[in-house]
Amino acid sequence: MDPRINVIDKRLKDIKRIIAVSGGKGGIGKSSTASLLALSLADIGKNVGLIDLDFYGPSCHVILGIRDVYPEEEKGVIPPDVDGISFMSIIYYAKDNPLTVRGIDISNAIIELFAITQWGKLDYLIIDMPPGIGDSTLDIIRLVSKIEFLVITNQSKVVLETVKKTLKMLKDSKVPILGVIQNMKTKEFPEVREWIEKFDVRYLGEIAYDDGFEDCLGVPERLLKSAFAKRIKKIIKSM
Ligand SMILES: Nc1ncnc2c1ncn2[C@@H]1O[C@H](COP(=O)(O)OP(=O)(O)OP(=O)(O)O)[C@@H](O)[C@H]1O
Ligand SMILES: [Mg+2]
Repeated sequence: MDPRINVIDKRLKDIKRIIAVSGGKGGIGKSSTASLLALSLADIGKNVGLIDLDFYGPSCHVILGIRDVYPEEEKGVIPPDVDGISFMSIIYYAKDNPLTVRGIDISNAIIELFAITQWGKLDYLIIDMPPGIGDSTLDIIRLVSKIEFLVITNQSKVVLETVKKTLKMLKDSKVPILGVIQNMKTKEFPEVREWIEKFDVRYLGEIAYDDGFEDCLGVPERLLKSAFAKRIKKIIKSM
């Protein structure tokens, strides 16, 4: 057995809730939700960590405007505090270079990141998951015992079909599901809610498609005033 796996429990022991933001498809707002969730929780005074596990396409640092900060090395690494969020990402090590590694190396990198990071006491650790429910999702379920999943969908049948598989996989694996958020809502479509609730999973609410969101990217003060953040703050109350 990999000795680093025993260390992970120790590293995560002072964190009250660990939430993986996931969903079956790409480009549906997982990173935006994970980043805004972390920012909004920090804004209401919670101790928050955020880890970007999308090694091929890390985005949280772009959304939150994080640059030129690095972890401190001290028997492991201490993530830098950015806008009240302890932030970890592969970008500290890969910088702007694309990562050309295979599945097993990604699993290794996930184990390494969780084994070296000293989060300290946190109310929430938010994990931004890569698209799909492949190796990284299975790794997280295996490595992080108190994980809960927050699943993102949009209104498209194409996405909903994949979300169905994600929910089934999580249920079969007996992983707690916090609920589902519908992002990029453009029109009333009550079937989405009904469809989610059929799975006996909580429908946490919806976030409208926001034309102004692009102008807020990289600027935390603007993000916090966005319609997206307002919805996230409402959803936090029901979590
Ligand atoms: N509610 C919204 N309104 C407007 N734009 C949005 C909304 N949610 C997300 N976006 C935009 O959609 C794009 C994809 O969002 P994001 O990167 O968060 O998705 P993702 O699911 O993390 O993608 P990936 O699967 O590639 O990791 C981004 O350009 C983001 O700014
Ligand atoms: Mg993403």
